[in-house]
Amino acid sequence: MRAVVYDRYGPPEVLRLEDVERPVPMADEVLVKIHATTVNRTDCGVRAADPFIARFFTGLRRPRRRILGTELAGEVEAVGAAVREFGVGDRVFGLNDWLFGAHAEYICMRESAALAHMPAGMSFEEAAAVCDGAILALNGMRPANIQKGQHVLVYGASGSTGTAAVQLASYFGADVTAVCNTKNLEVVKSLGADRVIDYTKQDFTKNGETYDAIFDAVGKLSFSRVKGSLKPGGVYNPTDGLWNIILAPLTSRIGGKKVIFPTPPRYTKDDVLFLKGLIEAGKYRPVIDRCYPLEDVIEATKYVETRQKTGNVVLTINGDRPR
Ligand SMILES: NC(=O)c1ccc[n+]([C@@H]2O[C@H](COP(=O)([O-])OP(=O)(O)OC[C@H]3O[C@@H](n4cnc5c(N)ncnc54)[C@H](OP(=O)(O)O)[C@@H]3O)[C@@H](O)[C@H]2O)c1
Repeated sequence: MRAVVYDRYGPPEVLRLEDVERPVPMADEVLVKIHATTVNRTDCGVRAADPFIARFFTGLRRPRRRILGTELAGEVEAVGAAVREFGVGDRVFGLNDWLFGAHAEYICMRESAALAHMPAGMSFEEAAAVCDGAILALNGMRPANIQKGQHVLVYGASGSTGTAAVQLASYFGADVTAVCNTKNLEVVKSLGADRVIDYTKQDFTKNGETYDAIFDAVGKLSFSRVKGSLKPGGVYNPTDGLWNIILAPLTSRIGGKKVIFPTPPRYTKDDVLFLKGLIEAGKYRPVIDRCYPLEDVIEATKYVETRQKTGNVVLTINGDRPR
């Protein structure tokens, strides 16, 4: 099968297409023929070994796993003897967590992994882009206990995690203020934000408003900067910044305003099923910026690394067209 492989950490050019052996499912695994995957920030961070500490998990000198790609949508091609939930031909979507391997024509995943039947009426391209940003946002919002009547600010509301966070906070009943650049105001409003702030025109930390939760979807803020914009007992929920690993337990003991930073994020089948339900109820949609064929993975990766994508960047495999 064709797969995008890399043998050393470095810039997007370390990626290349290669013919590799097609995996064979174990008893509790399904073999999925992948029709669409994504290039996300996890792929880029792991490939570049940024932050360096990531190497302790992905291979100190060189990558332990040669194929990147966490998100996928495709069709079940074969199932192991013990598999009950899926059958050949089922359309599935999900996320292969820290095992990667989705930048390829086929992947094996355990039946119990973060994998589910695709939402009705969804294309493979859309389904591939559902899980990463949304589950990262859920990881932060659940411990923050986002609920009806709360005021939530989502900073970086136009990215993969940001577009998900706006929709999820809105679904949980919060009054949502979204912060993004001028060019993304309309798309962010269309996701259910109650109000939007253009960060090129206004600094939300200086407008006198306060929030129950501030969700930083692009890792650009800091607790010290946003503290004055939190209500008493409010939470700051970053998605990046190693220092937040220290701040989270410290602020949890001191009381008052807190940092919530669940790390590493957990990706579960329950979350994939939760998102499927939201999509089928018309309460969630993935935002897709661009689609590239698998062969153009370097170009796609370079675009993701501009850090200016709106939502998600999809790779299509086997010449699939949106359905
Ligand atoms: N290192 C890793 O391995 C890793 C892995 C996964 C996730 N993460 C972290 O997870 C978070 C989410 O990633 P993501 O993939 O959702 O991000 P993303 O999609 O790459 O975010 C891109 C969006 O952020 C907006 N943006 C950029 N700078 C901004 C600023 N200063 N203020 C407001 N918006 C800004 C961009 O729009 P404009 O430029 O037009 O404003 C663009 O729409 C990030 O904090 C990321 O670092 C890290």
